[in-house]
Amino acid sequence: MGRLEGKSVVITGAGSGIGRAASLLFTKEGARLIAVDKTEGVKETARLVSEAGGTVEAVMADAGNEADVKAFIDKAVAKYGKLDVIWANAGISGGLVPLLEQTVEQWQEILRVNLIGPFLAVKHAIPHMTRQGSGSIVCTASVAGLKAGASAHPYAASKAGVISLVQTTAYSLSGTGVRINAVCPGLIETGMTKPIFDNAKSRGTDHKIGQLNPLKRAGQPHELAAMGLFLASDEASYVNGQAFPVDGGLTASMPYAGKPA
Ligand SMILES: NC(=O)c1ccc[n+]([C@@H]2O[C@H](COP(=O)([O-])OP(=O)(O)OC[C@H]3O[C@@H](n4cnc5c(N)ncnc54)[C@H](O)[C@@H]3O)[C@@H](O)[C@H]2O)c1
Repeated sequence: MGRLEGKSVVITGAGSGIGRAASLLFTKEGARLIAVDKTEGVKETARLVSEAGGTVEAVMADAGNEADVKAFIDKAVAKYGKLDVIWANAGISGGLVPLLEQTVEQWQEILRVNLIGPFLAVKHAIPHMTRQGSGSIVCTASVAGLKAGASAHPYAASKAGVISLVQTTAYSLSGTGVRINAVCPGLIETGMTKPIFDNAKSRGTDHKIGQLNPLKRAGQPHELAAMGLFLASDEASYVNGQAFPVDGGLTASMPYAGKPA
């Protein structure tokens, strides 16, 4: 029996990277999935899931738009009869714009997708989950929400906001049986970071990628999906209100070139 057997699950940002890997893993573990993305990539994710024998419906929607979020959550409940898990994973980076060149419009769009998106997922998932007395919400934050140096300011602020949203929501959910946690990816090879990997490859410096963390490599989407699966599943029944780095040890160490033991 799969670890998400029969559970009704929504994953946003499912058209690529971490969301696609999670879609494949969760359905392999028995989840019945609504896969959401703003791009056509979600149809390819659904094709891959179906090919592997999983249950999925692809929905093209904007995870930062309230009407869209309500609609895809309602769809999960209408189709599968309940909502057990939502992973608010969709996000945008906004690029490495220097502080004094950033605009209010850039800040607003990054906060809309990366922070208000997870808020809307929380807002519209909670009534279904509290009614059934169980549920698990996972949000994708970032190591950039924990420490400086990994991204530009609006992205970092949005992800710090996600961690706060998780903590404050866990508190608000006291006594309901519904849990919420965040994952904080380090550098993961996905659509979002493709330019970093492509540039490094074209300069012949790809061997330097990931060297700041003790595992000395970038992460892969399935390594985030595995943490998401644990948090989504009943195995994490006493895990709540936390933000877990999945970063090869990056945020556990100083970036100095010390000698390993
Ligand atoms: N890749 C990394 O190194 C890294 C590090 C830290 C955090 N993250 C976070 O992980 C999450 C997943 O990103 P990824 O790395 O898999 O990148 P990705 O670009 O491969 O996937 C992100 C997906 O989100 C979708 N998306 C963006 N805005 C959306 C919207 N408004 N509505 C619906 N879908 C939308 C994109 O179309 C894309 O398919 C993001 O929240 C990102 O901020 C990634």
